[in-house]
Amino acid sequence: MDASNSQLQLHSRTGKGEGETVGIALLGFGTVGAEVFRLLDENADAFAHRIGGPAEIRGIAIQNKNKLRPGVPSELLTDDAKALISRDDIDLVVEVIGGIDFPRELVLTALNSGKSVVTANKALVAAHADELAEAAERSGVDLYFEAAVAAAIPVVGMLRRSLAGDQIERISGIVNGTTNYILDAMESTGASYDEALAEATRLGYAEADPTADVEGHDAASKAAIMASIGFHTRVKFEDVHCEGITDITADDIAAANDAGYSIKLLAICERLRREDGSEVVNARVHPTLVAKEHPLATVSESYNAIFVEAEAAGSLMFYGNGAGGNPTASAVLGDVVGAARNIVHGGRAPGENTYANLPIADFGEVDTRFHIDMEVQDRAGVLEAISALFAQHGVSLRTVRQEDGEDTARLIVVTHAAKEATLENIVSALGELDEVKTVHSVIRLGS
Ligand code: HSE
Repeated sequence: MDASNSQLQLHSRTGKGEGETVGIALLGFGTVGAEVFRLLDENADAFAHRIGGPAEIRGIAIQNKNKLRPGVPSELLTDDAKALISRDDIDLVVEVIGGIDFPRELVLTALNSGKSVVTANKALVAAHADELAEAAERSGVDLYFEAAVAAAIPVVGMLRRSLAGDQIERISGIVNGTTNYILDAMESTGASYDEALAEATRLGYAEADPTADVEGHDAASKAAIMASIGFHTRVKFEDVHCEGITDITADDIAAANDAGYSIKLLAICERLRREDGSEVVNARVHPTLVAKEHPLATVSESYNAIFVEAEAAGSLMFYGNGAGGNPTASAVLGDVVGAARNIVHGGRAPGENTYANLPIADFGEVDTRFHIDMEVQDRAGVLEAISALFAQHGVSLRTVRQEDGEDTARLIVVTHAAKEATLENIVSALGELDEVKTVHSVIRLGS
């Protein structure tokens, strides 16, 4: 154990005492904030029993104090979040604002002034986990963020506590409800991309700017958090290779369906072993062909699921609501109970532990399989030229399917596993071959 780790053990914390009230500052009153407030208020007695003392929201920081908020006492509302956090009667800060810079400032202010924090903000945690964890350690307080990954599914607690005695090999998950809703609607109802996105937004799954969903950034933040905890190694948002679903067409979905696959946007976090035996980790997000018999292929609508492979536990799958106000509020409130209990009784939750500090593997090092859909000339020798190209790169083909067109043919090739970098080189070389008219799509196979 290094010096910094042993120093962390020195922080002990005494509680306020059984029956004492925990004062809460709620930062943000959108869909999630309003649900947190309602549930805490309606179930106040139950929360007091679970915590060991009452939990009281003593202030709510919002942007616009004039907006009507029925059922919320106006004296709780303030537009000065920093002043609210600094009040002596606040023990716990709940951040449900979203964004990065402003919440970062507020969360750091809270942690530095000795207040525990519960946040649902994956972008903030994925970008600034080191800084936030250090501030929590320095002050000896808790930083909880269960709601940051897949809302109501207890992913953070499962990785941090339940599987703390195991070695995680791989985590592959559907962790974005909006994109799963869109892909599922395109596959099952034939909805267009735009129709499905509009419906996901109306249902409250999508981020304020759905670019973060459809470009895969939201899932990449969650991948960074899962990989960091699962592999005891800091993996940041910028370490995650990220491709979204904006290029997926109805044709891709139909071709996948014909071949027995569903297209899912997967976040994949993987422990890899290099030829010299050393271990590295990789995290990535991209559309993936998932065999219909795999449990992840059955995850429909806006549901999320996380498939974990661990050395001793084997395969586990966690399934449920990964987006929306209520499911997110459920995860936030679970954290509120945990943090408030520690405030009352003393002690701290398990914090960050990045002792393994494994190198992050480049995406090119990952082993993968490609599904390549292309239009080729319909004449003798074409298949030979294409298979020769794969052979030159040492990649063997698993299946080749041809459909005749008018003057051309559609060729769908599925490769055996090879390094991502090698397959990328093959795809660019295919584009140069006279025999290949267009490469329509390249989608990786998993999970
Ligand atoms: N926009 C996100 C999703 C919400 O669609 O899953 C939770 O991060």
